[in-house]
Amino acid sequence: MRTAGPVGSGVLDAVTTRTFGTTIDRNPPRAFQLTDDLIPGKRTMSAPNKNYDPVAVTALSAAEVDRALADALAAIGAAATLDELKEARLAHDGDRAPLRLARAEIGALPPEAKAEAGRRVGAAMAAVRDAIGERQRQLERDRDEQVLVTERVDVTLPFDRTPAGARHPVTMTADRLADVFVAMGYEVAEGPEAEAEWYNFDALNIPPDHPAREMQDTLFVARPDGEPGPSGMVLRTHTSPVQIRSLLTRPLPLYVVSPGKVYRNEALDATHLPVFYQIEGLAVDEGLTMADLRGAIQAFVDALFGAGLRTRLRPDYFPFTEPSGDVSMECHVCRGESVKPGADPCRTCRSMGWIEIAGCGMVNPRVLVACGIDPDRYSGFAFGLGIERALMLAHGVNEIRDTVDGDVRFSRAFGMEI
Ligand code: PHE
Repeated sequence: MRTAGPVGSGVLDAVTTRTFGTTIDRNPPRAFQLTDDLIPGKRTMSAPNKNYDPVAVTALSAAEVDRALADALAAIGAAATLDELKEARLAHDGDRAPLRLARAEIGALPPEAKAEAGRRVGAAMAAVRDAIGERQRQLERDRDEQVLVTERVDVTLPFDRTPAGARHPVTMTADRLADVFVAMGYEVAEGPEAEAEWYNFDALNIPPDHPAREMQDTLFVARPDGEPGPSGMVLRTHTSPVQIRSLLTRPLPLYVVSPGKVYRNEALDATHLPVFYQIEGLAVDEGLTMADLRGAIQAFVDALFGAGLRTRLRPDYFPFTEPSGDVSMECHVCRGESVKPGADPCRTCRSMGWIEIAGCGMVNPRVLVACGIDPDRYSGFAFGLGIERALMLAHGVNEIRDTVDGDVRFSRAFGMEI
């Protein structure tokens, strides 16, 4: 039976019959067109398929592209976090995204169809990318704002942390004095607080019958076995044994400074402590004289009270220095004014104009000999001063017990250096 189709003709019938063999398609699809390709003898296999309709590639149809774009924009808009946006980007702008897959089909289109399909898909992809960029910036802004809110610190809130500790004013003064000498090339030396009598007395030319060795002055350490009798150990009564330890262990020339705790069998009162701090200085070199000693003393007075105060040496006696002296400095409060007739009295120097601050002298040759040093070649000087006393003078503290009471109201006034 021969029935003409909508575009049917005798030729078509013949073609369909030939092309599909025994199957005769009486109702070809609407889009099906008769082309040269299909006409026997006119088939040109290498020519482009000019009548190919891009609409027929479903993925490239305007409706499909619009739908893919709408899906993408919806997903991007719905992304509430940067992670969700990343997922939306992979789904709609990634390798398997519908628009990407549609774009891959363009190559199969005839040239005149390619341009239009390319524009359509390209515009959609650009719109997707713009939307992703815009959403990305927005979500980043949101996140940054969120960080400002959640990580906000109210600096006006009172904090309840235990306050950090600080060094004690006595320690700070000791360090400050030691620093003056370290800056001049001295080394810091230390020794034990429980010291052998030989270091504390004998080597320093303090003979056994010296009054300093009396029970009422020195705290002796009991024998470890509990037996009665001397242990040969004392709680050091001064930092001078560190002179001996340094001379025995360090090479010459030698410049050391030695701050530390010392002990004396003394009643506690406004000006005396049984445990207090000293700082010792010792220099042994060739050709040192008392002029060098004076220079060293002036340096620490300048460091502690500021430059401009005079110092004075008066003869004194220490078994380990010869000659020995006591060091005074001009009163930093009245500057000597209180001594003048009719002047206001000065509590700091008790109107003496001078304040005694240290003991000093040239190292006794017997000390050098005790340490195996040739006194004909080497000479030296030494000085020692009480740190609490220096602190009290520098800061107008009248009561030495304030330095041991452990009351932070006292310490805080000196600052909170760690
Ligand atoms: N060691 C002495 C004292 O405690 C002080 C001093 C040190 C004197 C060094 C002279 C030299 O009193």
